[in-house]
Amino acid sequence: MKNNVVLTGFMGTGKSSVGRLLARRLGFTYRDLDAAVVSSAGKSINEIFAQEGEASFRGAEKAEIRKLSACSRIVLSTGGGAVIDPENRALLKSMGVVVNLTASVDEILLRLKGDSQRPLLREDRSEARLAAMLAEREPWYAEADIRIDTGGKKLEDVAQQILDYLRRIRGWKL
Ligand code: S3P
Repeated sequence: MKNNVVLTGFMGTGKSSVGRLLARRLGFTYRDLDAAVVSSAGKSINEIFAQEGEASFRGAEKAEIRKLSACSRIVLSTGGGAVIDPENRALLKSMGVVVNLTASVDEILLRLKGDSQRPLLREDRSEARLAAMLAEREPWYAEADIRIDTGGKKLEDVAQQILDYLRRIRGWKL
């Protein structure tokens, strides 16, 4: 088992913010899957979806996961849909400890208010749509080693909870 931490979770659950903080606390390198896709494609997530479609984005996402799976000592924040693909899930699991961040539909809606960088929520960001997407993805998010509800918590507290888990349950010497 490799010594990375992989953060999964729906859009707006705080993966990037918590990931950055956690990487700093661990002395690991922080990597962001969406940022890797954007950097390789030379265009934004919105542009990839608009010009090439979701399937092309998913292909690029998978290619970046394959590359990143060779890394060690990184905290990797994944995009919310990275867990849909079974090969992605197996690769992410092989990288180390998988942490799933969760939040309620209400909280996610609040956090994503005014956001224009999520193409999947462009046309419909109703409570019903979000709830349906969350329900569809739930079994894949549930495959994580640990799940942490971020609702009403400070980023520092979420990062601390992950550190405690790594130390006490996984036996990491931190
Ligand atoms: C997606 C989540 C986004 C990004 C893309 C698709 C999804 O990442 O990868 O817009 O399918 O849930 P974040 O979870 O970082 O917003």
